[in-house]
Amino acid sequence: MHESFLTYKGFLFLKVAGLAGLLALALYIGHAPMDAPNGGTWLGYGLGTVSALLILWLAWFGVRKRRYGGVQPLKGWLSAHVYLGSALLVLGTLHTGFQFGWNVHSLAYALMLLVIASGIFGTIAYSRLPRLVAANRGRQTLEAMIAEISSLDRGARQAAMALDDKVNATVVAASERLQLGGSLIRILSGREPACRTAACLAHLEELAAKGTLGPEEGATLSTLVRLLYRKGELLHRARLDLRYQALLDIWLHVHIPATVLLIVALIAHVVSVFFFW
Ligand code: HEM
Ligand code: HEM
Repeated sequence: MHESFLTYKGFLFLKVAGLAGLLALALYIGHAPMDAPNGGTWLGYGLGTVSALLILWLAWFGVRKRRYGGVQPLKGWLSAHVYLGSALLVLGTLHTGFQFGWNVHSLAYALMLLVIASGIFGTIAYSRLPRLVAANRGRQTLEAMIAEISSLDRGARQAAMALDDKVNATVVAASERLQLGGSLIRILSGREPACRTAACLAHLEELAAKGTLGPEEGATLSTLVRLLYRKGELLHRARLDLRYQALLDIWLHVHIPATVLLIVALIAHVVSVFFFW
């Protein structure tokens, strides 16, 4: 099995991050400043500087990634990024001495938490979703699913012509528009509450249950149900595929902008403590 970025070199960076966190914690506990612990003691400055350098290095990952076109050689970098980024939770928090308020310092801290939280979300998504995507697709790409859906639609419209107007109308309504995608919330839910294919199928099943059709029409009806059933299954898988793709992507839309804001707030923080503290 190939090694994932999480287990890279026997969890090397998890160990490094764990040690850094423990060391900071030991220093913090042993530290006896004259005031309450805060960012302005020697330990506060030390932890603040290490945290800020770490943040700049973590942000540099975006530049690095683009240079390499982003595949395999970055595994070690990503491993370090994820674990050392999480260590900031300890280093950055201890730096503040838990002195929070409504100010630019705590804003920087809150943004740091947002970047870390979105990163954790992304890491979970990267480690779990690819397997689910593969299982859901089977051998079929999304494009192939859509192509099969439209050929099923054609077949269904053809078959429906032999049945009454009401059936025809629901089949046409179900095939007119591919109900895939839509708003972000719709995509993330992976469902379509007003699915016309599901409504059509329900209508056809009701009709079949009545058993009022002659043998020929009955046979056409079961063909139609079979086609639409397969279409419903494909639609379900296609919606799931879009959902997974959105989940793999959405957190970066928080992670990157919040990183930029974090750096701006951090500059404001450092400048303001040097000038006004
Ligand atoms: C070069 C790096 C840094 C330096 C020199 C620095 C400096 C300081 C100083 C001197 C204080 C004490 C201010 C006071 O007690 O009023 C402080 C507090 C604080 N720092 Fe930093 N810091 C750095 C990095 C960071 C980072 C990376 C964060 C989090 C993202 C952060 C968040 C805070 C917070 C929330 C406080 C508490 C503010 C308060 O006391 O009201 N700092 N920092
Ligand atoms: C303050 C800390 C952090 C900063 C400033 C930061 C910043 C960044 C930046 C700039 C990128 C490049 C994104 C791109 O250009 O596509 C990135 C990628 C990434 N970050 Fe962070 N990050 C931080 C913490 C974390 C943490 C704690 C985790 C996970 C626990 C994490 C997980 C990831 C992952 C998985 C990627 C890879 C995205 C990809 O290759 O598609 N990050 N981060």
